[in-house]
Amino acid sequence: MILLTGATGATGRRVLDRLLARGHRVRCLVRNPARLGTRRVDVQLSLWHLTDNRLPGGALRGVDTVIHLAGPLSDQPIGQLEELNATASWRLADAAAAAGVEHFVYASALGAGSAAGCRFLRAKQVGEHVVSGAGATGGMGVSIVAPSLILARGQRWASWAQALSLLPVVPVPARSAGRSRPLSAADVADAIVAVVEGGTPPVDRPARHELAGPDEYLVRDLVPALHTVVGRRRRTIGLPAGVLNAAVAVLERPGAADREELAVLTCDTTGRHGTRDLEALGVRPGGIVEALGG
Ligand SMILES: NC(=O)c1ccc[n+]([C@@H]2O[C@H](COP(=O)([O-])OP(=O)(O)OC[C@H]3O[C@@H](n4cnc5c(N)ncnc54)[C@H](OP(=O)(O)O)[C@@H]3O)[C@@H](O)[C@H]2O)c1
Repeated sequence: MILLTGATGATGRRVLDRLLARGHRVRCLVRNPARLGTRRVDVQLSLWHLTDNRLPGGALRGVDTVIHLAGPLSDQPIGQLEELNATASWRLADAAAAAGVEHFVYASALGAGSAAGCRFLRAKQVGEHVVSGAGATGGMGVSIVAPSLILARGQRWASWAQALSLLPVVPVPARSAGRSRPLSAADVADAIVAVVEGGTPPVDRPARHELAGPDEYLVRDLVPALHTVVGRRRRTIGLPAGVLNAAVAVLERPGAADREELAVLTCDTTGRHGTRDLEALGVRPGGIVEALGG
């Protein structure tokens, strides 16, 4: 039995489809089962929130593998992103190890590090650390998957690009050195399934897989590139970070944008392995055209 969190997200939905198609039995921890659509009849369900101190009774019964994908890029009314990504991951990994789970797969992010320029990537670094620690003390193998920016139609970055394309001139960070290697949610899902089926790493040596797309973009080039893919070419104007931040702050109230998400875009999420780790998992990653086309 596989326990999956984040099954209603861009990556999680695709992971779930693949697991079910390959005959795995899956239990999903979700906060809103309706968001699973028709898939809710194909899985076992437990209601759960990242801020819950305890797992629902029986959530880990019979589970040999946990895939933990739930982890927002920004704060939520019920918790800050540090709690939602790091503390919640520690609670889940600790409970999984105590319940005898063999393999814990954790979605971190490329660029995660204690010196990263945004809270999300610092929180993911802590998440990697606490999950690996829970595995080492509890005798559980840990795999970390660290994607660059994940793209899919209708998903958050795609919605950003869509909203920006309504402007006659699109503002981009002028001097940001933030680079990424975007890849599709489908490729990330293929990689996660390959990690799950590839076996459990040794308890004292967590496996870390960098998931990076084939092309590298500076953030100011990524936005027009996304617009080209969706057929809406726009001129861009480079703005200083402070001005952009102030503009995004205004859009935060209606939920159209978020300063933490902007901060992630201006960080380096390229990694060091290029597409090598994905290819080792049998995935040939497509670029942004494939990501937004499917
Ligand atoms: N998107 C990126 O560019 C990117 C880059 C690097 C790493 N990552 C990481 O990769 C993983 C998958 O990303 P994604 O973009 O596919 O995710 P996503 O589409 O944003 O989906 C997030 C998932 O987490 C769930 N979730 C959020 N807050 C929750 C809460 N408080 N309690 C319970 N569940 C909650 C969501 O449930 P609802 O459907 O109920 O909202 C959804 O299933 C995440 O861990 C993310 O941090 C993402």
